[in-house]
Amino acid sequence: MSRAWFITFEGIDGAGKSTHIEGLADWFRSQGRQVTLTREPGGTPLSEKLRELVLHQAMDPLTEALLMFAARREHLLQVIEPALARADVVLCDRFTDATFAYQGGGRGFDWRVLQTLEQWVQHLPPAADLRQPDLTVWFDLPPEVAAQRLSSARVPDKFEAQPVEFFRQVRAAYAKRMQEMPQRFARIAADQDRPSVWRDVLQSVAERVHESR
Ligand code: TYD
Repeated sequence: MSRAWFITFEGIDGAGKSTHIEGLADWFRSQGRQVTLTREPGGTPLSEKLRELVLHQAMDPLTEALLMFAARREHLLQVIEPALARADVVLCDRFTDATFAYQGGGRGFDWRVLQTLEQWVQHLPPAADLRQPDLTVWFDLPPEVAAQRLSSARVPDKFEAQPVEFFRQVRAAYAKRMQEMPQRFARIAADQDRPSVWRDVLQSVAERVHESR
């Protein structure tokens, strides 16, 4: 049986992940794989309620970080772990790197506290190691470009409404996460036209998947 895959997608708002995640889901299905498509914050009824709160209410940065991790714990236990146990391909729109990027980078919240929360939430006995994505596809683009793309979009949520400087910090924090765990990251230059971004995404995912056969 083919092995399970846990693939996450990251980037600042406006980086254009969504269509490529759908494209990858179709690509895996065309190879006969079962795909679980999910997102954070969210993915379970409780986590979706928490999403509503964190995306639309002002709150203290620690409260915000705790709610992100609370939503994640439920999501891991209810959706991600069962899907991986069935050897599904789990495609998750954002995961813990987003908390380091947005709450750590954007909000300036303590990196080490986030690491502690990560240890609590992603430790799932009897496994000794933390649950981490097998691959994280980071759609990287300059915040100025993202801001232009977003300006014509829908009504912004709490994060999308942040100034460009916030997204500079978010982007820097993604880069720091990649430096800390380079083996699981694939950085995609997202400031290209859509077909070129798709070519790069598919290439980096296909490479990893075939490598580990
Ligand atoms: P996003 O996933 O981009 O969904 P949509 O495209 O529907 O807006 O939005 C989620 C927002 O939540 C995004 O601005 C990033 C933010 N976020 C955090 O601040 N911390 C987190 O841990 C996660 C998962 C998301």
